[in-house]
Amino acid sequence: MIFDLRSDTVTKPTLEMRRAMAEAEVGDDVYGEDPTTLALQERVAVLLGKEAALFVSSGTMANQLAIATQTRRGDEVIVGEGAHPIWYESGGAAALSGVQFQVAGTGGFYEPEDIDANVKPRAYYSPRTSLIALENTHNRAGGRVLSALKANAIAERARSLGLRAHLDGARLWNAAVALGESESELARSFDTVSVCFSKGLGAPIGSALVGDRVVIEEAHRLRKMWGGGMRQTGVLAAAALHALEHHRKRLAEDHAAGKMLSSLLKSAKGLKARDPETNIVNIDVEADADKVVALAKDRGLLVGVSGPRRIRAVLHLDIAKESVPRCAEILAEAVSAASKAL
Ligand SMILES: Cc1ncc(COP(=O)(O)O)c(C=O)c1O
Repeated sequence: MIFDLRSDTVTKPTLEMRRAMAEAEVGDDVYGEDPTTLALQERVAVLLGKEAALFVSSGTMANQLAIATQTRRGDEVIVGEGAHPIWYESGGAAALSGVQFQVAGTGGFYEPEDIDANVKPRAYYSPRTSLIALENTHNRAGGRVLSALKANAIAERARSLGLRAHLDGARLWNAAVALGESESELARSFDTVSVCFSKGLGAPIGSALVGDRVVIEEAHRLRKMWGGGMRQTGVLAAAALHALEHHRKRLAEDHAAGKMLSSLLKSAKGLKARDPETNIVNIDVEADADKVVALAKDRGLLVGVSGPRRIRAVLHLDIAKESVPRCAEILAEAVSAASKAL
């Protein structure tokens, strides 16, 4: 038995989800004729309280479309520390949109005043700051959440300065469940939002970019230009619709499993597990993180590395809470073995 805690992206479609995919009504989405995709886009737009949504292949594509549609070459985008497009999107913002990033605050989130402190003056020699982006939940920060009050205050400050605001909500579903606030409330003051169906929700593929009609029309054009126009996407949209319907509320179980893992590791030596706010547990280790990961793998547990001395464990649909004590045990053993080898 292998426990895979590397990410919530490793989930496999359930039998019911596969059934929904098999039975999906489909058409050619490049002609705008896939009824299931159109239904998903409508559903997501309503859920997020925006005018329109576009189904795309990945969270990366959704974020990159948000940047490309709301900036010009040479512009600057303000983001929090550890933002996904800085670390994990293959330099797409530089290659596709020609923008630079300015990091604001520490620990992933930032305050409205940090925008004032970082926005560049309107001068011919300054980059034009045109967009801010906020990640909720924040991946590298260990699934941290920001309340609707705080998140919207940031977006509103940006908009008052004439900037656009993008919300990277790859795990907005987790934030909504953890905070007890709706997705539309968390997204209220943002111009665009990206959401993923292929993480905690358990769909095999797919994300969406959501926003006003004008920006989504332009994203539609760019999606085709980038080779992201797909045909009978209804089989994928059906999985996403199934996930929205059946897998959203249960995210609370992943959050509880994360807390259980962290508390079971409290007494272990050579590590410090952060108290998680959602399904991502960051664990600081005294030994080399790669070594701990290799030793855990030998014992049947897969975890990720997010720094030289940091490990990441992510709870998800395919990890039963009954397995969590065994996962904690293996991790503690691996850390102990790695420490002895120091
Ligand atoms: C916060 C955040 N944004 C965007 C993405 C990108 O999603 P994808 O892997 O579908 O490109 C991820 C992926 O883990 C993420 O954690």
